[in-house]
Amino acid sequence: MPQTGSSQFIPVTPFDLIVFGAAGDLSLRKLLPSLFHRWRDDQIPSQSRIIGVSRTAMSSQEFRELALRSFRKFHPGEEIDDGEWADYAKLLHYCELDAVADDADWSSLKKLLDGPGDKPRVYYLALPPGLYGKVSTNIAAAGLKSADTRIVLEKPIGRDLASARDINEAVGAVFDEKSIFRIDHYLGKETVQNLIVLRFMNSLFEPVWNANAIDHVEITVSESIGAGGRASYYDTAGALRDMVQNHILQLLCLVAMEPPLDLSPDTVRDEKIKVLRSLRPITPQNARETSVRGQYAKGASDGEAVPGYLEELGAQSKTETFVAVKAHIDNWRWKGVPFYLRTGKRMSGRYSEIIIQFKEVAHALINEGATPPPTRLVIRLQPDEGVKLLLVTKDPGPGGMRLRYVPLNLSYAEQFKARYPDAYERLLMAVVRGDLALFMRRDEVEAAWRWVDGILDAWSRDATPVYAYAAGTDGPAQAAMMLDRDGRAWFDGV
Ligand code: BG6
Repeated sequence: MPQTGSSQFIPVTPFDLIVFGAAGDLSLRKLLPSLFHRWRDDQIPSQSRIIGVSRTAMSSQEFRELALRSFRKFHPGEEIDDGEWADYAKLLHYCELDAVADDADWSSLKKLLDGPGDKPRVYYLALPPGLYGKVSTNIAAAGLKSADTRIVLEKPIGRDLASARDINEAVGAVFDEKSIFRIDHYLGKETVQNLIVLRFMNSLFEPVWNANAIDHVEITVSESIGAGGRASYYDTAGALRDMVQNHILQLLCLVAMEPPLDLSPDTVRDEKIKVLRSLRPITPQNARETSVRGQYAKGASDGEAVPGYLEELGAQSKTETFVAVKAHIDNWRWKGVPFYLRTGKRMSGRYSEIIIQFKEVAHALINEGATPPPTRLVIRLQPDEGVKLLLVTKDPGPGGMRLRYVPLNLSYAEQFKARYPDAYERLLMAVVRGDLALFMRRDEVEAAWRWVDGILDAWSRDATPVYAYAAGTDGPAQAAMMLDRDGRAWFDGV
């Protein structure tokens, strides 16, 4: 019997949320729509305020209209009632301000925020990371740091370890660590949260979740979109900084960490950081065997011809739009188990998947010694969320022993009828509650950069070429060859 979701929306206390960069893509595409959804589910009390701040000159009314136009553009299939939106829009205010200018006039924002001072105040910096320090300093200098103030920083925090440290220092000089919420939106995804439940609340897995039983792990985050309109940002980042340093390493931590004592923020983060610190360094000497970088050339996506990355960018560039890495976690649990990580833009489809491949059976009983396919646990994060355990079974019927490789299939869509909230909905409400569990701690971000810096350093010495791949494919052939050298292949479905 399908079950309906039993989660409930627990209202938060009234709050003031100030979004810097309010006219930008993240705010219009994700933050304001997510807040609308939470408001519509009665989670946000009407005494709350959402204050947009940016350098663009506009009135609060124009900001509300912009937010509505953007909602309709980014949620084309979703019906919203005008009256309903009008009620939500009462929460929205706007304030024109250049938050990094030395001589900026903060008085209108100050005036807006004046009043009963006991509401939690959340500053959301939807801005380039290089501005985080300056804006934090300016918030404090303007006298706008109340007793209960939180600050939210978007990823990426910096572009290497040194710049991440500078940002963390600058923000840390104004806000203490318990008020800093570093977002990795993957941690807000329903299926990512489920990784902890799956691993630690089913007794089946823990005894086999180690090098004795597991052959290797694959983590793939494949995107069909290109860099497109974001090419000028993307070119300064590339797939390693944009996806691996944060999202993919967070997934790796959740798959590989030791069981935490409980789910309190620091207990879980302490376990994650041990994984990051155990990652074997990638060096110029081993980079060629352990990493592949690629860049998409023209090809086809969803049946349409699409340009290559360099054509979109309109310039020469060696920025990678694809990366595959063979990682090792040097600890007792994972000795000798490779973690193959890959992500790319303009690949054959949009999906994120974790594959746990178990070892082959010790001795094949039939088919003249041919080994049956290995047991695999396929954790599908998006879309078609679910978990499959691929098993070998006997093909029913008379006439000998034939084998079939079939899934035990838990499809979330079939099992649960709940709507999956966008990751930002969950994360924004967690900030208002002051719950740090889904956010990255300073040492965690820095440990992730330390490992990624090794790869960046190797690449900067040209230890590996940037291979071209046609848009709409699974990346350069070298990524398949990396596994082939180990006698393995990326899982390709059954
Ligand atoms: C963002 C990256 O953090 O994650 C984007 O900057 C990427 O480049 C996006 O497209 C992917 O997120 P999702 O939730 O669509 O998997």
